[in-house]
Amino acid sequence: MHEEHQSAIEALGAQRLNKVSFSGIRKVSEKVRKLESEGRDVIHWQIGRTDFDTPEHIKAAAVESLNRGDVHYAPNRGVPALRKAIAERTQQDTGVAVAEESQVIVMTGANEGVLVSMLAFLDPGDEVLIPSPNWPHYKACVSIAGGTPVEVETKEKDQFGVTAESIAERITPRTKILCVTSPGNPTGCVQSKEDLEALAKVAVEHNLIVISDEIYNRIYFGEDGGTAPSIFSIPGMAERTIVINGFSKAYSMDGWRLGWTVASPEVTLMLLKMRQYTTVCVSTFSQHAAAAGLSGDQSSVDERVAAFAERRTIIVEGLRSIPGVSVAEPLGAFYAFPNISSFGMSSEKMADYLLDEYGLAAVAGSVFGAAGEGFLRIAYSCSTDDCRRGIERLGEALAKLPRS
Ligand SMILES: Cc1ncc(COP(=O)(O)O)c(C=O)c1O
Repeated sequence: MHEEHQSAIEALGAQRLNKVSFSGIRKVSEKVRKLESEGRDVIHWQIGRTDFDTPEHIKAAAVESLNRGDVHYAPNRGVPALRKAIAERTQQDTGVAVAEESQVIVMTGANEGVLVSMLAFLDPGDEVLIPSPNWPHYKACVSIAGGTPVEVETKEKDQFGVTAESIAERITPRTKILCVTSPGNPTGCVQSKEDLEALAKVAVEHNLIVISDEIYNRIYFGEDGGTAPSIFSIPGMAERTIVINGFSKAYSMDGWRLGWTVASPEVTLMLLKMRQYTTVCVSTFSQHAAAAGLSGDQSSVDERVAAFAERRTIIVEGLRSIPGVSVAEPLGAFYAFPNISSFGMSSEKMADYLLDEYGLAAVAGSVFGAAGEGFLRIAYSCSTDDCRRGIERLGEALAKLPRS
């Protein structure tokens, strides 16, 4: 009966939803919950969520704001104090001057920034170039907006960076947007300044909007230090780039749902028009707390980045010590994307095997696009102890399998 009813409801559903699936990451998390409720010890390598609490001074600023009576609607663009802090932070990260009154919108997470950008710029049939493997959200948002996602394969041998040539090859008269995610999810790939310059050239030549998701920009392990390079900094790109960023990762505020867009005043007006009809604004007291986070003491961000660097070393060295496994150097974010294809098992079967038999929860690479088949995503946003225990379990599990 339940299934019949489900199909009857689906027949009533909007056709655009047929192109959208439930997230493969969510499916793993549901299975983990079930196993844990049965008393199994599971190592959480599946979620891209930090294991830290939100810094105390940010929580205190939220309480203060509530006590001050900040309980009413905020402006659609966001409260001035937060927009100012975002403009200053973006200028510090990218070297580009940003006007807080016309170029910033505070969004309900980076997610809303992506969805609003797609809704504001896509007509049915417009194409969006998405390097693959990638965070599945872009593809779904493109479909919801009526556009056509076009996956552009990236390779382990290129550290999963997308090349200007591979982008240029896939451009058609319908191509409107190029997505750049650097540092990337699920691979930890960081596009170098030279790569970004080559991509920018193609974007200008073909009049593309670039959505540059920089949510991991501060979790960067490059030798030059600082934040990961941004395409927004390249001359000619500030006019056509929508920078997406947020508080979920660097400040451990994923449950607060706080992100932002930075773009030219003209692009921002388009986003604002759309945004008035999505979530209207982020809760006012959260915005005041976030402003305190961005403009106050940044040592908690540095501590997080140092912790991720330590975990990354354990994971990368650990993976490289397991026979049959290779891994591209992740230069940012908190993911590693090991190649497990020598075990001749689909990535989904491998993820099931590791979870069912060894209590090790990782996500099949295929969840992030066809180009992710043969890989697993490991989120090392867990304790160093769980990084070590996970590597031990993985080594044990893989030693039991034949290799081709
Ligand atoms: C590349 C990327 N962008 C955005 C997000 C989501 O950000 P938010 O929590 O701000 O919506 C994620 C979450 O995993 C991500 O990996």
